[in-house]
Amino acid sequence: MAKMATSMVQNGEDAFRNIFKFYKRRNPPPDFSDVIDFSKGAVGDRIVPAVLKPSAVSDVEAARVGLQPVRDWRAFSLQGYPGFMFISNPFLQGSQPPWVRQCLKTYTQKPNVCNLDMHMSPSDTEDIWGKSVHALSCPPSGKREAKTLLERLRWVTLGYHYNWDTKTYSSSHYTPFPADLHSLSSHITAACGFPGFTAEAGILNYYRPDSSLGIHVDESELDHSRPLLSLSFGQSAIFLLGGLNRQDPPTAMYMHSGDVMVMSGQSRLLYHAVPRIVSAPTLEMDPSSWSSSLQDGAAVEPVSEEDWAVCSRYIQSSRVNVTVRQVLGPGQSFPETPSSHQTRTDAGQMDGYHERPADGDSGKRKRSSSVDSVDTVET
Ligand code: OGA
Ligand code: MN
Repeated sequence: MAKMATSMVQNGEDAFRNIFKFYKRRNPPPDFSDVIDFSKGAVGDRIVPAVLKPSAVSDVEAARVGLQPVRDWRAFSLQGYPGFMFISNPFLQGSQPPWVRQCLKTYTQKPNVCNLDMHMSPSDTEDIWGKSVHALSCPPSGKREAKTLLERLRWVTLGYHYNWDTKTYSSSHYTPFPADLHSLSSHITAACGFPGFTAEAGILNYYRPDSSLGIHVDESELDHSRPLLSLSFGQSAIFLLGGLNRQDPPTAMYMHSGDVMVMSGQSRLLYHAVPRIVSAPTLEMDPSSWSSSLQDGAAVEPVSEEDWAVCSRYIQSSRVNVTVRQVLGPGQSFPETPSSHQTRTDAGQMDGYHERPADGDSGKRKRSSSVDSVDTVET
């Protein structure tokens, strides 16, 4: 058999890093036969159907955020990863486009924070969508054109804005969390058995075909008993879910457009990474198929044809991942530390340290900052 990811594992080594490099490799491309594909729906000894709470969300509430009735969701758990749940595209036909538009056009607006703010003046990053649409809707001319802002976008933060340098959130750097995304998140988490989830911080990652996200644990939130929610749109990715130590070999799975992950309980603090973007088998998203009867009271507006032309072109080559986090437990507040007074201007001085996800190119030159990126937690 060809080199399988599992044969890379050696005792006492950083097994996660080896498997990360295995899936990231371009030449020759890796063998993908070990990668779990939940969209195929097969259950076995590793993949088991997950139990949901259909009564926690009414069909009308679900439809308002673009979700199928909970009883129709295909939800799975993974043997050996208690608290991990994978929901294979629970969105209604045609309801991903409004969320894609939110990620590209709405959430990129001020007061939200993005990687471009570190390099550019506020007026230059004020309207990323508006400054990109013209170039993105014209067919590429022969000459190599400068990348649009949308193409240079790597991350956006919402709510409590994550400080990449101090790896903390703080009460002093907060802007209102988008109500529509809050509503989507609370319905999904409620259906997974977590009533009362409060979406307080969001990180959107924008991946080009050669981007990756380094090995890390999300531990900056103060209450780890609350789940972490992850939503993906556009191109597919290989997601690696490891253990509490980097010596634990990770499990590889595909994340396709519309897929949702919930990391809770023991799985809330596991190492994970995205070594590779893979082109989506099919990306059929017809925004017009979102039944207009469902749009009464919808949390998100339908997408105009004009906007969809830009969004659909963008996701033909890119992936967007949204993670939603509850930072504080009920009644909890931030501890008073010097870093809670840090502003974004302070953070901006650590330039070049914010490439998340890292691009393939820079990864080659600066392996340490791409494979073990920004948020890598060493053990
Ligand atoms: C994160 C994360 C995974 C992904 O943002 O912390 O792990 O699929 N994202 O992009
Ligand atoms: Mn993460």
